[in-house]
Amino acid sequence: MNDRKWWKEGIVYQIYPRSFQDTTGNGVGDLQGIIRRLDYIKSLGVDIIWLNPVYTSPNDDNGYDIADYRAIMPEFGTMADFDHLLAGMKARGLKLVMDLVVNHSSDEHQWFEESRKSRTNPYRNYYHWWPAEKGTPPKRWSYFDVEGSAWKYDETTNAYYLHYFSEKQPDLNWENPRVRKEIHDIMRFWFDKGVDGFRMDVISFISKDPDYPELPEKYKGDFVSYYSNGPRLHQYLHEMHTEVLGRYDVMTVGEAPGIGLDRALDFVDGDRQELNMFFHFDLMALDREENEVFLMRKEPWKLREFKAIHSKWDAAFAEKGWGSIYLNNHDFPRSVSRWGNDSTSTWHNAATMLQTFVLTMRGTPYFLYGEEIGMTNIKFDDITDYKDINTLNRYEIVKKEGGDLTAFIENEKSASRDNARTPMQWDESENAGFSSTTPWLKVNNNYTRGINVAVQERDTQSVLNYFRRLVQLRKDHPALVYGAYQLLQEAHEEIYAYSRTWEEDRFLILLGFSSSKSEITLDEINFERAELLLSNDEIVEKAWKKTFELRPYQACVYRLY
Ligand code: GLC
Repeated sequence: MNDRKWWKEGIVYQIYPRSFQDTTGNGVGDLQGIIRRLDYIKSLGVDIIWLNPVYTSPNDDNGYDIADYRAIMPEFGTMADFDHLLAGMKARGLKLVMDLVVNHSSDEHQWFEESRKSRTNPYRNYYHWWPAEKGTPPKRWSYFDVEGSAWKYDETTNAYYLHYFSEKQPDLNWENPRVRKEIHDIMRFWFDKGVDGFRMDVISFISKDPDYPELPEKYKGDFVSYYSNGPRLHQYLHEMHTEVLGRYDVMTVGEAPGIGLDRALDFVDGDRQELNMFFHFDLMALDREENEVFLMRKEPWKLREFKAIHSKWDAAFAEKGWGSIYLNNHDFPRSVSRWGNDSTSTWHNAATMLQTFVLTMRGTPYFLYGEEIGMTNIKFDDITDYKDINTLNRYEIVKKEGGDLTAFIENEKSASRDNARTPMQWDESENAGFSSTTPWLKVNNNYTRGINVAVQERDTQSVLNYFRRLVQLRKDHPALVYGAYQLLQEAHEEIYAYSRTWEEDRFLILLGFSSSKSEITLDEINFERAELLLSNDEIVEKAWKKTFELRPYQACVYRLY
């Protein structure tokens, strides 16, 4: 159990290339920009970079619609830039994980251009088609479609094609062995270049029932669970392992919407030879309406629920498999705004407290660029500021239905993916040092108020420097990576307390989730002495050593003796 691996000990730093650093002056980040910032990334202490898609794409969904899996998007640079980036990373001991987006391609991929030409084209079966003479296909729901339908009628061949995402993202037909072979070849191409792994986009959706039956009753209202429950999903993942993954020392993390605890080990139990890790969506659903991943729920979420999610997922991988811990990514709003509190007085502690959580849990930690400096949601209140297809299309739907557009924008201030995609805040110069020209997406103005790298570099108490100390702490103590997790005082409404134990080492982590002071008395564990290793605020010493008082959003890591 829990044998040591680099991808378990590594800390992942996610870069959304479009928003990281522009060097060409077109308002869009690029590969040279990442190269320029490699020393900074290394200085954080992180080990692995996960790069969102950098392949040629018409950018209907910012690179998640790929037109050529073996070429670099010209806006981002060239293959030579990519090779330099990889070499620069290797020279610094950093690993690179790419995004593998193979549930669908772009409609501008040559395969699809061929596929739609005729019913007898050799590429026809690379995609899912429904001949119109059979009538209207059974309802399939789409994430990004203004009509809400995942079937798009295509006149040329009088047939509908399937697209779980936008109509420019047709789903690939994994039932076709030629498609699977193409994908394996693409994976080998990148591994042979020296790439260290893949984050696999909506990998739980790849297998479909080619009879496209009416949605079974038990999935009514919940397409996601149906999509993630395809009949041959595990056969395909195992085959991918046999054909490709097992031949390289690489890491894999699947994005797995719709996968609950009951099916978790099917993906990551090492004996099954499929994936190393996946991202579950239980936390991402916590503040959303049921089965409505983009709609904020009315009732505020409760700390008890947050603890329950992490405790049960920790237990799922206690003996087999391995977890991944994340609080945000390019699809979900900024962690400090969502799980903490980004108002001026609480921002510093909330951002660092949440970092403490991610870096003291069992499982591989994932951070989104800017999380190390506490970047916040931008909360645009004008639809013209939004760039994400998801927000724009849902806006069109509400408008068409005569819905409440003000309420929609209010929701997007918390929910929109653009909150997580604003340009990296490097310094106090114009556009936060991201670009010399107007960026593709507005920069958050709070870069002038302390949320930028340059200012935080100079302050030993900054969110950035706390992050570095915390990373070092995790590196110094394998107990924080591998140690058993025990939840303490599950019902406490304001403090999340847990211990991590490995061999002789025992740590106590206290996380205040309240904007006022809070207190906890830990009678249930025995210790003589608690040595403070790190905190984001001053410690309030208590005479009675089993009682701890926390300031608003304070985090403390103790070693217990
Ligand atoms: C994943 C990606 C998201 C993208 C979608 C379609 O959820 O993370 O950004 O829009 O898949 O590829």
